Amino acid sequence: MPKPKVFVTRRIAQEALDMIAAAAEMELWHDELPPPRDVLLDKVRNVEGLLSLLTDNVDAELMETGPKLKIVSNFAVGYDNVDITQATQRGILVGNTPGVLTETTADFTFALLLATARRLLEADNYTKKGNWNTWGPMILLGRDIHHATLGIVGCGRIGLEVAKRARGFDMEVIYYSSTRRSPEEEENMGLEFVPSLATLLSRADFVTIHVALTPETHHLISATEFARMKPTAILINAARGPIVDQQALYQALKSGQILAAGLDVTENEPIPLDSPLLTLDNVIIAPHIASASVVTRTKMAVMAAENLIAGLRDEQPPNCVNPEAAEHQR
Ligand code: NAP
Ligand code: GLV
Repeated sequence: MPKPKVFVTRRIAQEALDMIAAAAEMELWHDELPPPRDVLLDKVRNVEGLLSLLTDNVDAELMETGPKLKIVSNFAVGYDNVDITQATQRGILVGNTPGVLTETTADFTFALLLATARRLLEADNYTKKGNWNTWGPMILLGRDIHHATLGIVGCGRIGLEVAKRARGFDMEVIYYSSTRRSPEEEENMGLEFVPSLATLLSRADFVTIHVALTPETHHLISATEFARMKPTAILINAARGPIVDQQALYQALKSGQILAAGLDVTENEPIPLDSPLLTLDNVIIAPHIASASVVTRTKMAVMAAENLIAGLRDEQPPNCVNPEAAEHQR
């Protein structure tokens, strides 16, 4: 029996590539940049499996071009780059990588929070530019994290891990979810559920976003929401860029409507170099690296490989977003 063909859109941990190569005839895209759209379409023409990254747009056109596709294994927990409805209708299983990156992403969220509140990058610049002339009682004053109120928007796996870290800083933690309330976690972790996003925004000193990007959460935070926040508030987004209206964010930061922002994600990635956000000192922008630790990226790669291989074998991937796709398989 010939091995099934797969296309892997970027180099991932060797351990995972070895697993895939043992189970399939693998073509690997070696460049640092994603395969251009026309190349990606060409590569899926004959494959049964695709290991995609969040930079690959897996839409109806792609699935139409790859009629043999059985499995799309996305190397991320978020899968807003994949048209799940189309995949399901076509009997294509979609895998993702939940759980293994939760703590690493929460750590980085907290790093953004600490760095923004205590103006760490400004301080580093200040020192390196030779401005440190003496101990100054009024220089680079930031905001306290301890005993401040943290507002978590979307308290799923990552949101909860951020809450855990916040407790160590004696923060008051409030959360809002449009879909899920967890009385057990409220009790165990001392969280307070607030009935609306508006309430959360008006009370929080730090607002941290952890919802998935969906049509409902696109621009969830825009001008109206910034108007509800405290002028001393700090916004953290390590979820997806388009959840925050970036133009409104720029206006809010520039005008002093909010104090600062720490972003791991932006509306367009990479952020264009002429973006006005890049001119501001009160925003820190990381290049979408919240899950980027050696161990976590290896675990994600192995999980993505397991999902891919299961799908090739007509088995349900261990982490499957749309198990119901199996009913539509040809
Ligand atoms: P998760 O466990 O599914 O959590 C998402 C939470 O948001 C769920 O509790 C969900 O409730 C809630 N939610 C959905 N719509 C909402 C809304 N409109 N308002 C408020 N809450 C809402 O997912 P996760 O593992 O924590 O990951 C969350 C997201 O983080 C991923 O989708 C991904 O986009 C992002 N992420 C980014 C990085 C990075 O490198 N920056 C790394 C990992 C993940 P229901 O489940 O009830 O819908
Ligand atoms: C990263 O952004 C992920 O969704 O895993």
